[in-house]
Amino acid sequence: MLPVNQQTVLETDNVSYRYSKQPVLENVSMEIKKGSFLGLVGPNGSGKSTLIKILLGLIAPDAGEIRLFGTPLKKFKHWEKIGYVSQKANSFNSGFPATVQEVVAMGLYGQMGLFRFLNKTHKRKIENALEQVGMSDYKKRTIGELSGGQQQRVFIARALVSEPDILILDEPTVGVDAQSVQQFYTLLSTLNIEKGMTLLLVTHDVGVMTRYVSHVACLNRILHFHGTSEEFEEQNLSSVYGHDVTMITHGHESGGPL
Ligand SMILES: Nc1ncnc2c1ncn2[C@@H]1O[C@H](COP(=O)(O)OP(=O)(O)OP(=O)(O)O)[C@@H](O)[C@H]1O
Ligand SMILES: [Mg+2]
Repeated sequence: MLPVNQQTVLETDNVSYRYSKQPVLENVSMEIKKGSFLGLVGPNGSGKSTLIKILLGLIAPDAGEIRLFGTPLKKFKHWEKIGYVSQKANSFNSGFPATVQEVVAMGLYGQMGLFRFLNKTHKRKIENALEQVGMSDYKKRTIGELSGGQQQRVFIARALVSEPDILILDEPTVGVDAQSVQQFYTLLSTLNIEKGMTLLLVTHDVGVMTRYVSHVACLNRILHFHGTSEEFEEQNLSSVYGHDVTMITHGHESGGPL
C-alpha cells in the first residue's frame, strides 16, 4: 500500500439525504486521502449509490457539505480528475451501434472538444486503457456483442482513459466470474500502488476486498464504521455493519455476500 499523504481528495461533512419521506443518508462524514483505496460496503438499499451520486454532484444533499480536492462541490470544475463507473454500466443492449474503441473514446470528449477527430495521442491513450483491462483484442467489436463482464471492463477503460486522479466504481464485479474478479482486483492494486491513483470501490465482496483496500467505510443510512482495513478486520462485523451478518470465508479466498 502506498504511504497515504495528507491531501484530502473527497470529503463529506454531515451529509443527509431523503427520497421523498424516506431518509437514506444521515449525517455521513467521511474523507478519502490521496493515494488511499477505500472500500465502501453496506447491505442492499443502504445508501451507497446515493452517496456516490451526491459526491459526483448528480443529486444535491438535503444537508451537509461536500469538498472535492479541497474545493466545495458547487465551485468544483475539474471533473476530468474523477473517473466513474456506474452500477448499471453494463446494461447495453445488443443493438447499440458503438464499437469498444468508440465507447472508450467517450471518456476523452472533455479533452478533445466536440466534433474533433481522435489524434495519435488520443488513440494511444485509448489503446493503453484497453490494454490495462485486457480488452485490446476487442477494440473493433460492437459493445452490444460483448458479455456483461467484458462490457464492464470496457466501461472501466472509458473511466481510465482520461487518467483521472480518483476512480470511483459502484459494484463493478457484479456478474463477473471469479477469475475475472481476481484480475480486476489485481488491476485496481496496480492502479493504486504503481500509479498512485486514489480509489473508491463500492462492493459486496467483503472478504476479497479487505486484502486490497487501505480503508473501509460501512454504510447503512448512517456510517457505522470508517477506518483502516486492519481496524476493520479487528472489529466484529455485525457491529460495524449495523445488522447481523454472517461472513463465510474459505481460507483467504472469499467472503460471503452481504
Ligand atoms: N430514485 C429513487 N427514488 C426513490 N427511492 C430511491 C431512489 N433510488 C434509491 N432509492 C431508495 O434509496 C435507498 C438507497 O438506495 P441506494 O441505491 O443508494 O442503495 P445501495 O446501497 O446502492 O444498494 P445496492 O447495494 O442494492 O446497490 C433504497 O431504499 C432505495 O429503494
Ligand atoms: Mg447501489
